[in-house]
Amino acid sequence: MTNLQIFLDIATEAALAAGEVLQGYWGKLEDAIAEKGRPGDLVTVADKASEVVVLDVLRRHFPEHSILAEESGKLGNQENQYLWAIDPLDGTTNYAHQYPYFAVSIGLLINGAPQVGVIYNPFHNELFRAAAGLGATRNRRPIKVSDTSELGKSLLVTGFAYDRRETSDNNYAEFCHFTHLTQGVRRSGSAAMDLAYVACGRFDGYWERGLSPWDMAAGIIILQEAGGKVTAYDASPFKIESGRILATNGRLHESISQELMQVRPLSSWT
Ligand code: IPD
Ligand code: CA
Ligand code: CA
Repeated sequence: MTNLQIFLDIATEAALAAGEVLQGYWGKLEDAIAEKGRPGDLVTVADKASEVVVLDVLRRHFPEHSILAEESGKLGNQENQYLWAIDPLDGTTNYAHQYPYFAVSIGLLINGAPQVGVIYNPFHNELFRAAAGLGATRNRRPIKVSDTSELGKSLLVTGFAYDRRETSDNNYAEFCHFTHLTQGVRRSGSAAMDLAYVACGRFDGYWERGLSPWDMAAGIIILQEAGGKVTAYDASPFKIESGRILATNGRLHESISQELMQVRPLSSWT
């Protein structure tokens, strides 16, 4: 077995265990929901409990690896070439409202590049996985991106960062622009799931700004292994620290990038 396969299997073990935790708290949060800072940026007891389980599995198997986890921050030796980026509950707002589009997302970056990814939605029992060179799967069956090549026939997805009330770079204009040009744009509320859905062809493309590495790391490798493309908005090489991603089925990449570069902020929301 290759190292990547081992990393993938351990990440899967962690995601499945964390998914069980999320299922356990489903519909039982009552008032165990708090705002982290910005309005709408929620954290719940489920986020924290899920992260504990993921950390426990990964640290037991890979004590020397570094970790970047949403609720705990940086852990371990940050000089190590292996970095686990963990979102224990991506889609917290959905989860808190019992809207079942959320996931555990675990990605492994090696020397800065996503190489292994697992995204698990326990409510729908959907497990998306990939490792570099090993392909991408949904519930252990191969997946691939859609064939859609016309923007007018596409279904896209995006999201709005928690700082949206503080900046004119809030994605509202982009949302309107693509709503006009496509069959629709969804705002589903989980970046990890959005990437997984592009990977399996349910969406044709996704863009978003204001993201963190733990939102994207797993989804990027899953999408790439499913035949998709990931870059910056202007189609230049993707940089995870920019927080800005354009992820598509490949065929639509250039046209979405060109449109994104033309959008100007809506004056009524600046
Ligand atoms: C959020 C979700 C959402 C995206 C936000 C993220 P969280 O993560 O991925 O879709 O629009 O920017 O912060 O807070 O639910 O882990
Ligand atoms: Ca997230
Ligand atoms: Ca989260």
